[in-house]
Amino acid sequence: MSFSVRDGKLDVVVAAGPRVQLWPSAGIRSFASLCAEYDLQVGIYGPDTLSVRGLVPLSGTGAVIIAEDPQKRIHRIHARAVLRVAAPTELPDPFPGWRSQALIPLSTARRLQEQVDLFWAPRTVILGTSGQAFRFGSDLLSMSRATDATQVICVETHSQWGGKRFAGWEVDRRRFEMLGGKVIEGRPVSLSQKAPLLWEFRIQDAEGIRILEVARVVSAGPFDDFSGIKESPPGNLLFDLKQTSLRTEEEDFDGWNLEEERGRWLATRVIKGLVTELGSRKDDLERIARRAKNRIKRSFKHRDFPFHWDYQGKWTSAATQRAVRSFSGVPQTAQKTRMVASLECFEEIGCNLCEKVCPENAIRWARGQIQAADAAVQPVLSEKDCTGCGLCLPACPSSSILMIRDPEQSTQATLTFPWKGSAKWKAGDFATLVNRRGEILGTARVSEVQGAAQDDVTAQVQSGDHQWVKVEVPSHLAWEARGIRRSKVQVQASVAKEYAETQGTDRRRDSKDMVEITLDGEKRLIRDRVPITAALFEFGIARPEDVLYCGDGGCGLCTIFVDGVKRSACQTTVRKGMALRNVERVLGVMGDAPGISPSDNVICPCVGVKTEDVVERIGKGQLGSMEAVQALTSVGCGKCHGQVCTEALRRLLERSGVDAKGWSDWQFPWGEWTLAPTN
Ligand code: SF4
Ligand code: SF4
Ligand code: FES
Ligand code: FES
Repeated sequence: MSFSVRDGKLDVVVAAGPRVQLWPSAGIRSFASLCAEYDLQVGIYGPDTLSVRGLVPLSGTGAVIIAEDPQKRIHRIHARAVLRVAAPTELPDPFPGWRSQALIPLSTARRLQEQVDLFWAPRTVILGTSGQAFRFGSDLLSMSRATDATQVICVETHSQWGGKRFAGWEVDRRRFEMLGGKVIEGRPVSLSQKAPLLWEFRIQDAEGIRILEVARVVSAGPFDDFSGIKESPPGNLLFDLKQTSLRTEEEDFDGWNLEEERGRWLATRVIKGLVTELGSRKDDLERIARRAKNRIKRSFKHRDFPFHWDYQGKWTSAATQRAVRSFSGVPQTAQKTRMVASLECFEEIGCNLCEKVCPENAIRWARGQIQAADAAVQPVLSEKDCTGCGLCLPACPSSSILMIRDPEQSTQATLTFPWKGSAKWKAGDFATLVNRRGEILGTARVSEVQGAAQDDVTAQVQSGDHQWVKVEVPSHLAWEARGIRRSKVQVQASVAKEYAETQGTDRRRDSKDMVEITLDGEKRLIRDRVPITAALFEFGIARPEDVLYCGDGGCGLCTIFVDGVKRSACQTTVRKGMALRNVERVLGVMGDAPGISPSDNVICPCVGVKTEDVVERIGKGQLGSMEAVQALTSVGCGKCHGQVCTEALRRLLERSGVDAKGWSDWQFPWGEWTLAPTN
């Protein structure tokens, strides 16, 4: 019996850690291309090429990468520097019931949302207030059918983000609230099951314990202000980069930009470490490093200089009105005679997507640029150049641009809002007008709609599924109304219509979409032609191991017997008559470990270690590092290789005074892996 091992040598390797969501993402591209410009040989190993199974650090610099190719051959690559790309931290600090099937990481929630029409009603809670969290909440609110009447609440658990009490951009929060989302601050206390798809979620806030009945809790974070880059240990040229570009650039501009600059900055570190003769290129490299560092800093500037809204009842205060009306992205005079764009994007954020699409060059963000002392200050919006074409409205991911016409001599004003929701508008509809906090100001008649209607799917695809919805409003609402929603009457009418059309059956459980299968000996009706993992989740019988749903077959956690054959549930599609049998439940990913119950405050469910056990052990002293705590408690040594518990442990240790900030799990293989002989 022999193993075929291929050896190789490279200057730099970029390796995918577990659960990376996009490959290769923005930071990987910027890192690799800068390294290559300086003549370093770079290998990029991720899910689509060589699947990295583990890294063994070398003394000095670099590491040996152990990887497997699609033919299951093993590769051993010696690299002088390594960048490991890690998935974002999405799970919260443990509380009783946190590892239940109701609490799912944002990446899993997104996959499920794309694959099945999951239940999010009556209420979904999102833990965290990042831009990603707000955007997912906004997507749930705008894409769900009117009949769902889903409530979405974002809970801020950390509450310390410079001058802000939430982590993301103000424009993302505003869009979320205008669509009906709520933001609260509080600490999760417990999550317990009431009925098959109904959970009781207790949150401690300033007023006491709040009890929420929820369908699901989506965990998004951030739960600390960790910088996203680690070197482990310093000087070894072994770096971890936290992935933040999780969607396309248009959908996630801040995450995309941040990862790109972090990648560039790390490349300058590696080049300085490996290229001995930089010569005249040294200055260039220094300049790139400085610029990347400044841009990274700028990504968080909005937290130090947030825009504060001041309200009197539902109306913005006089001081806030003055600040809004004098902002240089808001038109000063053109709106009195014609429709013109108004950009209410006050914070120093890195985005400039609207600037990129404007055909007239009427938008010019100069955020963070140093102006010459005698230079005329450029307004953001050049209102004389804006033709009112409206292209910038759908380009803004946060819906913070609208068109306005507010004639001085008239009692009426006209506003045009971008609309990306699934329930399309038509002229003559009545819309509920809301202010920037989502409070209702009144109703208005839709006078014109551009873009595709509800039933015109081809036109929807051509127009990018957007609508431009024009409403006439009384003049006093021209600078207060900033969003539209469906009125309650319309929602009720839509419920009645859908009920009549489906004759009272639930569309999601339409018999033509469902097939009978056998699960652990019991007959079940289950969604047809979707991955088994997604179908089980939809039905509320998802297995605990599926919460880490990697979606690419890489994590090995979701194995299940299908007609007696062991398969990955995420890679196998449901079909009529199949018999599913759970395979050796992944030990305790939800608290199956002996002596553990879901009500326990367990930090590492795989191994069954309670938070109080770790705290008690630290209290006894002589544990100064993360390694020491892990060696004595075994936290992180279970089947999921710490994917569920490591970040929670790191945060716990930081709070307990143990130095764990730069800790990185470099030696541990992160996939279940059996060495198979090749002959
Ligand atoms: S409405 Fe058209 S011209 Fe005016 S700023 Fe937007 S994209 Fe430019
Ligand atoms: S597209 Fe323009 S208005 Fe919208 S968030 Fe980006 S910079 Fe702000
Ligand atoms: S969820 Fe990772 S292999 Fe199926
Ligand atoms: S929860 Fe899986 S190793 Fe700790």
